[in-house]
Amino acid sequence: MRELSPLQIERLKYQPKLPTSLREGVNKLELVQGENTEAVRDAAQIKELFANTYGKPVVSFESIEGENASEIKNVGVILSGGQAPGGHNVIAGLYDALKQANSQNKLYGFLGGPAGIIDGKYVEFTDSFIDEYRNTGGFDIIGSGRTKLETQEQFESSLEVCKKLNLSAVVIIGGDDSNTNAALLAEWFVANKTGVQVIGCPKTIDGDLKNDQIEISFGFDTATKTYGELIGNIQRDANSAKKYWHFIKIMGRSASHVALEAALQTQPNITLISEEVEEKKMSLDEIITYMADIISQRAAKGKNFGIAVIPEGLIEFIPEMKSMISNLNDLMGELEQDINFNSATSTHERFEIVQSRMKSENAGVFASLPALIKAQLLMDRDPHGNVQVSKIETEKLLIEMIRTKLDEMKNQGEYVGKFADQAHFFGYEGRCAFPSNFDSDYCYSLGYNAFALINFGLTGYLSSIKNLTQTADQWLAGGVPITMMMNMEKRHGEFKPVIQKALVELDGPVFKKLEANREDWALNDKYLFPGAIQYFGPASVCDLTTVTLQLEQIKTLVNA
Ligand code: FBP
Repeated sequence: MRELSPLQIERLKYQPKLPTSLREGVNKLELVQGENTEAVRDAAQIKELFANTYGKPVVSFESIEGENASEIKNVGVILSGGQAPGGHNVIAGLYDALKQANSQNKLYGFLGGPAGIIDGKYVEFTDSFIDEYRNTGGFDIIGSGRTKLETQEQFESSLEVCKKLNLSAVVIIGGDDSNTNAALLAEWFVANKTGVQVIGCPKTIDGDLKNDQIEISFGFDTATKTYGELIGNIQRDANSAKKYWHFIKIMGRSASHVALEAALQTQPNITLISEEVEEKKMSLDEIITYMADIISQRAAKGKNFGIAVIPEGLIEFIPEMKSMISNLNDLMGELEQDINFNSATSTHERFEIVQSRMKSENAGVFASLPALIKAQLLMDRDPHGNVQVSKIETEKLLIEMIRTKLDEMKNQGEYVGKFADQAHFFGYEGRCAFPSNFDSDYCYSLGYNAFALINFGLTGYLSSIKNLTQTADQWLAGGVPITMMMNMEKRHGEFKPVIQKALVELDGPVFKKLEANREDWALNDKYLFPGAIQYFGPASVCDLTTVTLQLEQIKTLVNA
């Protein structure tokens, strides 16, 4: 018998809330179809690439009096990409919906991410198996992985496994890249008349898989609340000891949603937003000057401490860095084959080779970086061709450069303080936390709803639950064609169909809130201490979702 903590025991008993329409089970639903849809951009190309699944309508569900007949359906589920709190509840919701519809239905979990369906590695879920994981964080129920499901051979092997298990559908729980691949698989299954459906579920702590139809990706709520707690604790520490500047890099890949939400929850002295840096074309030197100026102004008031929040993807948005990284990305393939590069005995020699191959303006930028950052920039790309921004210690780069800047300012009599730093990176700490009540409910609903979409024979759809700032009984269940969210983007030097990533909107209410307050927060300590996620107690405390979603929904209501 596994030993469980008191919170584990309590959370296992939590009963996630469903939208009213889903509460009687998927057999008591009717499908309401909206207008046909178009891709968000590059419609003609997306239509050509998805000839069978393009243009389908957005759908929603309403409950009915009678009951639909239910055929036996076996379903397979995949967890794809980085962990996000609530993944287990998506599977639990899917399982409960499927068993409620027909007790002979079966749910299989593919092991280790998309590789599981390609290699035919799976488990069959049972009541006792699922019960152990209800309302728990992590993806350890079946594991996850970053294998890209995109080639003809992979589709063929997946089909063999689907046939063997007699699957009607596959549910892919993933972010923008994984759901792009879900759309490709759905299209291939239809084109090849296999009868296997594919449904996606919007996962990622990064919060960048959202649009008019998808209000939030799951995991964002819990992860940002976890980081909010940690930042709040550090603010208390900084305000107590009054001797450190804490530089806190926050996970979230390219988009700064996580950093922005965590900042609104805690009100730190400095918050950098990558999208703003890009828009204003701020150079690294300008960023350093901006930060050093706040540090110096605080020092003049006797405050040699503070908190700076830095989004994980910042480095990619600084114009000179962006150009250098893109040059480096194009060189990576060549360098892997380069005998001199591979046989170089020192990192210094490798850096020299890289510099000699770069365009001169980029070589200068590369050369100006500390060795640690150069080495991190040369690390392997992820399977989607992205720089692994989580491995680049931007917080340390900034600290080193700020220290130099403050020394210069001191020499010119412009700075009179002491600068002692602490660097932090919050990412993995939040990805597997016990899902908040919001994520527990939302994820369970997404999974439950995914089976409703399957039951109505849909494919190439993302499970969607909307109206999320209201109580769960008012949530709206439905589905969105994945092709509707797509456009063409350059990946590995080629244009490919991908789900458009949502970056922070600088004219949106969420960024505007930061903008309106940051001068005040910089100099006057307005720290907020959100504390730990509350799992028990009044709904006004426990079930509340993010500041981001609340501000976005107010804007939607005003515009409606
Ligand atoms: P996805 O949800 O897009 O898979 O990424 C989530 C994430 O946590 C990013 O914020 C982070 O940059 C990345 O995963 C880290 O990847 P890894 O888990 O491979 O270290």
